[in-house]
Amino acid sequence: MKGSNFASIGITFKGCGSYLPAQVLSNEKISQIVETNDEWIKTRTGISNRRIAEIDENVSDMGFKAALSAMDMANWASESVDLIILATSTPNDLFGSAPMIQAKLRAKNALAFDLTAACSGFLFALITASQYLTSGKYKRALVIGSDQLSSYVDWQDRGSCILFGDGAGALAIEASHDQSNLFGFNLRTDGERGSFLNLYNKNLNGKIIDQIKFRKGEFSNISMNGQEVYKFAVREVPIIISDLLKKTDFDSADVDWLILHQANQRILDAVGERLKINKDKILTNLNKYGNTSAATIPLVLDEFIRNQKIKKNDIILTSGFGAGLSWGAALLKWG
Ligand code: COA
Repeated sequence: MKGSNFASIGITFKGCGSYLPAQVLSNEKISQIVETNDEWIKTRTGISNRRIAEIDENVSDMGFKAALSAMDMANWASESVDLIILATSTPNDLFGSAPMIQAKLRAKNALAFDLTAACSGFLFALITASQYLTSGKYKRALVIGSDQLSSYVDWQDRGSCILFGDGAGALAIEASHDQSNLFGFNLRTDGERGSFLNLYNKNLNGKIIDQIKFRKGEFSNISMNGQEVYKFAVREVPIIISDLLKKTDFDSADVDWLILHQANQRILDAVGERLKINKDKILTNLNKYGNTSAATIPLVLDEFIRNQKIKKNDIILTSGFGAGLSWGAALLKWG
């Protein structure tokens, strides 16, 4: 039977959760700050609105709410959580924001740390957590994607500010001796093409005393070569997914749902076409929330699990891609 060849410890999916800030930034509002319009943005990206975190909200606040909701669905007590991985590129503490989520959840037995891989972050965190679980030393993990890109968007750059929004999503995953619902994964990075999408340190010089200078820690805005990122995604994502399907002995016809990182509707459509996956199987909420980086995949999962479109035992193919450059795919069964 497909997907049944698992060795000793496998992964099961127990819960999901998400959080979206209340402030809505529409295309119409963006057209008040840069030369653009609703029609252009919708046609080129599929996005109508995005959410913006409030002044007093940060990545760990949003991540906490998403994780709490995933933990509730899983029906887990806080103390039973062994591991918390927070995928984020916009931490509220560069030393690590995951331990703040651990504290808020009162998950005192958990190991908590951050992982940065931009828009592939959630997928990389999911696979990292799965390796901890299959080692046999950890049983329950919360995998969180939370990002607040609004803090780093150049709101004067119409080529990028139309794309991004804030939010968080989470999954509760558990080790199992009976089954594995994570059938396989493929992860890649290519630093040689890294300059297409960046959030660099400003590299400002400071001086401690005359003889000793230092680099100040302050980040610039997101810089992006949209066309190159677009070409990268449309080319590499179908390849990595096809490889994964082959490796796991699945066919695209076996897939119930395709959940791609929510970057641009045209990317989603092009990838779906290349893989010959019917549009009805490609789940999206991009129009409402834009690109929330590490949060997009769990945001889609949570929405469609809660509205019961995704059902227990459905086969889900997911792929993240973005800065790094980084990209990857995973094949799983919900439940
Ligand atoms: N409103 C109106 N016009 C805009 C605009 C906007 N918001 N942004 C760019 N334009 C203009 C450009 O200035 C250009 O004008 P010109 O022909 O007079 O020079 C024209 O539209 C076409 O620009 P181009 O960059 O070729 O547009 P595009 O079709 O590639 O769309 C993106 C731009 C950013 C929407 C698209 O490249 C994209 O989505 N790329 C992927 C980015 C991404 O997903 N990043 C995150 C990955 S995780």
